Amino acid sequence: MVMVVMVTAAMATENLNRRKQRNMNAAPDIKELLIAENKTLKQALEVIENNAQGICFVVSAESKLVGILTDGDIRRNLIKGKSLDTSVKEIMQLNFTSFKVDTAQSIIQEKLSHIIRHIPLVDENNVPVDYACFSRLHRTPIMQPLLNGNELAYVSDCIKTGWISSQGAYVKRFEKEFAEYCGAEYAVAVSNGTVALHLALAALDIKEGDEVIVPDLTFAASINAVVYTGATPVIVDVDKTTWTISIADIEKNITPKTKAIMPVHLYGHPCHMDEIMALAKKHNLYVVEDAAEAIGAKYKGKHVGTIGDAATFSFFGNKTITTGEGGMVFFKSKEMYEKAMVLRDHGMSKTRRYWHDHVGFNYRMTNLQAAIGCAQLERISEFIDAKRNLAKIYNSYLKEVGCFILPPQEEWAVNGYWLYTAILKEDALISRDDLMQKMMMNGIETRAVFFPLHEMPPYKNYETKSTFENSDYISKQGISLPSSVNITEEELQNIKQALHNIFISIKAR
Ligand SMILES: Cc1ncc(COP(=O)(O)O)c(C=O)c1O
Repeated sequence: MVMVVMVTAAMATENLNRRKQRNMNAAPDIKELLIAENKTLKQALEVIENNAQGICFVVSAESKLVGILTDGDIRRNLIKGKSLDTSVKEIMQLNFTSFKVDTAQSIIQEKLSHIIRHIPLVDENNVPVDYACFSRLHRTPIMQPLLNGNELAYVSDCIKTGWISSQGAYVKRFEKEFAEYCGAEYAVAVSNGTVALHLALAALDIKEGDEVIVPDLTFAASINAVVYTGATPVIVDVDKTTWTISIADIEKNITPKTKAIMPVHLYGHPCHMDEIMALAKKHNLYVVEDAAEAIGAKYKGKHVGTIGDAATFSFFGNKTITTGEGGMVFFKSKEMYEKAMVLRDHGMSKTRRYWHDHVGFNYRMTNLQAAIGCAQLERISEFIDAKRNLAKIYNSYLKEVGCFILPPQEEWAVNGYWLYTAILKEDALISRDDLMQKMMMNGIETRAVFFPLHEMPPYKNYETKSTFENSDYISKQGISLPSSVNITEEELQNIKQALHNIFISIKAR
């Protein structure tokens, strides 16, 4: 949280320098909001575009604060017939709120609202030395967990009873309840989503000499898990509509060595599962769904994760439900499931303690993690509804701005909207990275889409018959907006206003 800094005039410059060093993306300096009264509206628009705040503070030749000017003031005056060469002095607002820089924060805070979003703070000579605004008081995170249900009670129960490792009732309960929720039969809880993938592949006996087809656009854990097994990943492009693995590209890359396909339900939108399963059947391949980002998503009425031979989930802190760190694997076959249960626990025989038939792993989930998971599961429908509702709200904001391709939503799919992600059109007159920086200047965290795997050092030399037009494009232009289920109305209004300010000032150029 960035607090309004109360400074004397002498301290102001030093403070600004420190802030600059600390965070290039923080709310802009007061200097970036100032404009001289003899400047033109065109110059004011440039100041507003650079500071991304939708406002500038007007100063006299003696540096005293004499007015304020918003992008709305400029727009209204242009509509009325004023020109871009009109002087700032002619149309600036003379009635505005300002405070002495040493005013108590509570008084300033009380005055800030959706109408008064920025307040100049002046020294004893009425020279602006700082300002207050919503984004300096508050940072909206890209994602945060909501843990105010039974999480604390269940974790306390583990501690009180001493069941804090991987033995204990919550692990079994979490496996059973999550599998029931999704409609899966065999579930293995593990310590995170990455080892879930590795365990799934290991249980299917994927090993050196095999090839596994993975999409170019995903979190690195998907491909890393393949590498851990000794198999060779084959990276293929994604399709333009769902941003998930391209069917044509899978087909192009199947060889006699191919053993499995790993569809990733990216950002919560399901892959084309019928086509993937048909290809797998034709070529006798396994399908391992990476559903880390797609809790609650459905393909033609079925929960993702219940279609392939195996499927994995992540319950990392930013996921739709969380266990802090955590993961789950679903299996279609009882035999694979039983093998995974052994591999999860050091490869130790279930009937003969300390006898090992396999080189296994310690991938167990703790009872503490599962306790959190059980409490989260009690609210899973509420969380997913909140995500879908948030997507509707963002869709309406972005439609209004008009420079975005909205997140995928095929008619056969229920998108879980884990992280609301849209594509900034290339003709938007602002780059994706500049947009992210300007959002941060308004106290709003955003996230870039993953880098394409084929560009990164550990993966770029793997052979493939694919070219990567779609993943390159989505990666370069994709941006995710804050997607916590407990985002507040005030935060949403701030996001709407920031988008409005940024795009209005660009369009006015
Ligand atoms: C697509 C995908 N696969 C796998 C993982 C790995 O999950 P974890 O972070 O729980 O290891 C993630 C995590 O963010 C992911 O997004």
